[in-house]
Amino acid sequence: MNLAVDPETVLAPRFRAAIAAAFGEEHRDADPMLRASDRADLQANVAMGLAKRLGQPPRKVAEAIQAKLEASDVLERIELAGPGFFNLWLRGDWLAAAASRALADARAGVPLAAEPSRIVIDYSSPNVAKEMHVGHLRSTVIGDALARVLELRGHTVIRQNHVGDWGTPFGMLIEHLLDVGEDAATRELGVGELGAFYKAARKKFDEAPDFAARSRARVVALQGGDAETRRLWSVLVDVSKRYFGSIYERLGVTLRPGDVAGESLYDPRLAPLADELRASGAATVTDGALCLFPPGFAAKDGAPLPLIVQKSDGGFGYATTDLAAIRYRLDELRATRLLYVVGAPQAQHLAMVFEAARSLGWLRPPAQATHVAFGSVLGTDKRMFKTRSGDTVRLVDLIDEAEARARGVIEEKARELSDDERAEIARAIGVGAIKYADLSSDRVKDYVFDLDRMLSFDGNTAPYLQYAHARLCSMFRKADAEGAAAGPVLAASGDGAVKERALVLHLLRFGAVVASVDSTLEPHKLCTYLHELATAFMAFYEACPVLKADEEARASRLSICALTRRTLRQGLALLGVEAPEKM
Ligand code: ARG
Repeated sequence: MNLAVDPETVLAPRFRAAIAAAFGEEHRDADPMLRASDRADLQANVAMGLAKRLGQPPRKVAEAIQAKLEASDVLERIELAGPGFFNLWLRGDWLAAAASRALADARAGVPLAAEPSRIVIDYSSPNVAKEMHVGHLRSTVIGDALARVLELRGHTVIRQNHVGDWGTPFGMLIEHLLDVGEDAATRELGVGELGAFYKAARKKFDEAPDFAARSRARVVALQGGDAETRRLWSVLVDVSKRYFGSIYERLGVTLRPGDVAGESLYDPRLAPLADELRASGAATVTDGALCLFPPGFAAKDGAPLPLIVQKSDGGFGYATTDLAAIRYRLDELRATRLLYVVGAPQAQHLAMVFEAARSLGWLRPPAQATHVAFGSVLGTDKRMFKTRSGDTVRLVDLIDEAEARARGVIEEKARELSDDERAEIARAIGVGAIKYADLSSDRVKDYVFDLDRMLSFDGNTAPYLQYAHARLCSMFRKADAEGAAAGPVLAASGDGAVKERALVLHLLRFGAVVASVDSTLEPHKLCTYLHELATAFMAFYEACPVLKADEEARASRLSICALTRRTLRQGLALLGVEAPEKM
């Protein structure tokens, strides 16, 4: 049997059984409210809520639970504090045995989801012939971490890169492509000069009436399926996609070309969709435009807000495409959990699309759609992150700079490494620092893009965690050379036992933390956990000799170190951050 190692998971059913024994089966569903605690290993606040439900004093309820609780194999001490809180301390031998079990468990204590589902994650979703900016970085990095976590939990994850590859701008982009010449344009776009290309096209469109006229005619040709126009369009799309792919590769992101489900995919579905909604009466014509009015959305003046299905000129927009996409994801991809990793400014748009899908009967329980929103990236001046000239900062430039700076840091620290090794490590640190900084703050909040802080070896940063991991690897190289082997974990004793115990207890919580990222979609919880883990390890390492300890303690501590190393590496991998063996 694969026993859980996380103390909260182990104790919860014991508390439930005690509650049922004391107050009857109908109360077995009460939440034991087991939490980590500063005062003890854990606390259980169950009595407070249950007391209300039973109409009895909390302290009396707590005493009755305690009388029935059978957990002497897990708990060393229970203290009833205050009006009815339990403070709980775990047995040293239970902790030791659980650590040994965790080390033997290939899933590292990460429980499989009780009900695995098919999950669509819409993430990254940059726009063709437009620069990928820090907002796309956020979507890419957050979405990828969630994809990895959800897959480990046993869900089926379908990545959908909703690339902006369709719409009226393509008229001017294609005309500009013809002006510049295909080869020159491909070269320009291939090296990531997307912003300049788009801007040049835009400028001509705004300033030259004949260019604007050509562009409009080109949109009509594109939508009409003109073969040469489609070919020119695909030149633009392909070169942009290749460029996005090169960024994904540098970032170590799991998105593949096959995950692209761009806006153009839905184009053939838009007219039939509009016809259907018009015919059923779900959508109505207001001011010439065909609109849905999802319930619950009103403008400032109280008028219902429209979701435009078809514009008065017959064209389709972003909303129509999202309606077609949500239906496709539900009906054809058969997903029951739809995640949209998109910036907070699109909250209303997405909420309206979800509500429309609900009222049209497409989105119904158990299926659910969630906007996994995130805040903006700010510069160190706390304003929107822009270059000095006010342009969007190119993602590639950020990655280049992070790697260059990491190389500088590594040059000082790891003198004994070869140039190749150093370049490789600098890459892992630079990219890791950027990704981790993005993931480690509460995603809905804005965060400041500050390379100095991200690359610091102190604090809640990737390099701090990578360094702790590399230090463990170096310890194991030494252990191997000395023939020191890991063995059964023993209950902590002697000097440093407090630190050793704290490290072990923290290690056992990994699986529960990963599971909480599944339910909350908040990767920063995993970051906080890993930072605390690395800190607990450093404290343990200072207080407890490992290789110099006597044989039994050494074998036990090597196991604890092995579990720490694996947990750090696996946790970082779930975040998409590499863990080099040397630093
Ligand atoms: N391409 C859009 C942008 O850059 C993001 C698309 C998000 N996904 C969606 N289904 N609307 O803002």
